[in-house]
Amino acid sequence: MRLDKYLAEALNISRSETTTIIKQKKVKIDDRVAKSGSEEVKGKVYYNEEEIVYKEFRYFMINKPKGYVSASRDDKNPCVVDLVTGVKNLKAAGRLDIDTTGLMILTNDGAFIHKVTSPKQEIYKTYEVECDKEFKREFVSAFLEGFDLIDSDGSIYHTKKAYLEITSKNKALISICEGRFHEIKKMCHEVGLVVTNLKRIKIGSLELDSALKEGEAKELEEKDIEKIFVK
Ligand code: URA
Repeated sequence: MRLDKYLAEALNISRSETTTIIKQKKVKIDDRVAKSGSEEVKGKVYYNEEEIVYKEFRYFMINKPKGYVSASRDDKNPCVVDLVTGVKNLKAAGRLDIDTTGLMILTNDGAFIHKVTSPKQEIYKTYEVECDKEFKREFVSAFLEGFDLIDSDGSIYHTKKAYLEITSKNKALISICEGRFHEIKKMCHEVGLVVTNLKRIKIGSLELDSALKEGEAKELEEKDIEKIFVK
């Protein structure tokens, strides 16, 4: 890859800005000062003596706060993609309702988004759920057997196996492998409960980092991404 493209992508700056920093002798390839943006990158690139690593695909874990929408643009509300700045073309891998908090992945890797959100992959997502009334023991088998629910387009579908683990009177962990609109809220409604708080804490085996405050993001590494696909 040409040096100017490499710098523009890695630093999220324009091609003309790359020319400026090269002229200012702020860019090095290995231990020599780079001369021109047209040279091919064959070595480690440094800007202001700091190594710059260009990655085609980037993955971020965010702890979504309430009030943020999962879309990339919205006229009224802030968007989850606004929580990571300086990286182009980020999209959310799956959706959470505006009032749901917790684990979301933002990435510029479209194939990854498709894989994570496809129900065929059966990647379970786990939610902490708080309801207005008590979770009864008999609900466990009802969630496993599934419910007939109405989808956004009016069609009826039967939910895939969902796992309910009651953690206290009106709190539970629910794991589902589909990303249908309001799915957990609708399932709880079927057993007479209203969801009062919903937080996603796990995708596959990847858990929300407990150090990440609402609204914060951290870049994921390959080993984190792999956990998503571990059942
Ligand atoms: N189920 C819901 O009802 N809402 C979400 O945000 C996610 C799953």
